[in-house]
Amino acid sequence: MYPILEKRLLAEGIWLMKVLAPRVARSAQPGQFVIVRVDEHGERIPLTISDFDAAEGSVTIVTQAIGASTRKICALNEGDALADFAGPLGHPSEFVKMPVEELRKRRYLFVAGGVGTAPVYPQVKWLREHGVKADVIIGAKTRDMLIYTDAMRAVAENLHIATDDGSEGFKGLVTALIGELIEKEGRHYDECVAIGPMIMMKFVALTTKKYALKTTVSLNALMVDGTGMCGACRVTVGGRTRFTCVDGPEFDAHEVDFDEAMRRQGMYRTQEQRAAAIEAE
Ligand code: FES
Repeated sequence: MYPILEKRLLAEGIWLMKVLAPRVARSAQPGQFVIVRVDEHGERIPLTISDFDAAEGSVTIVTQAIGASTRKICALNEGDALADFAGPLGHPSEFVKMPVEELRKRRYLFVAGGVGTAPVYPQVKWLREHGVKADVIIGAKTRDMLIYTDAMRAVAENLHIATDDGSEGFKGLVTALIGELIEKEGRHYDECVAIGPMIMMKFVALTTKKYALKTTVSLNALMVDGTGMCGACRVTVGGRTRFTCVDGPEFDAHEVDFDEAMRRQGMYRTQEQRAAAIEAE
């Protein structure tokens, strides 16, 4: 069993949980995920690691209560325990394998949207710990939906906020803010990493393509069982079929067929809604 050490509400329906899982914490790297089961009858839920602390033996996950299974996880409290917490799984972010001297010459731009802000945090933190500068844009519909802003401010070189309604920071979409930073402020980036809603990642990819800015996206939201068995996370990248849970979860954004990925995501959302309806009966 994996006890929940801390539980905190980050925004409406979005919970942070710090879980005691020493073996996972010891080998976790930014970009990886875990598979969680709430109890022995529970569904396997893949969740991206949002932080890890090898000394404490803890791993942090952030869950949005959107389906029957995620609602069950979010209903647990401090002191309760998860039945399974398997990981770390998936390939770590590409920069983890790069020589640090090379990395230090590079400048990163991270674009985080909604609950996708949580998995961006360990990446920016890792880069900071290795002396690499990263600017971060966090986007949300309104100020109330922003998460991880204080934590991110502590590790980012520059933190920019964009809200659709202008209730905090730049008023508008993250793509417009990317344009401002590159064109108006003349900032140069060597790589962009975008994690958030599929539609946001699609338009970030279209925007950065204009600037020939290499971009990586994490497609963790496509995963269902995270084992390479169910096929739900199939995605076309550069004309080849890839499995997000086995070959990813990070891919070259300019090669991903986002329209196909969004159709696939829509299909599973319908099944989640049915499961929630059965649960409510
Ligand atoms: Fe099921 Fe990848 S999530 S095969």
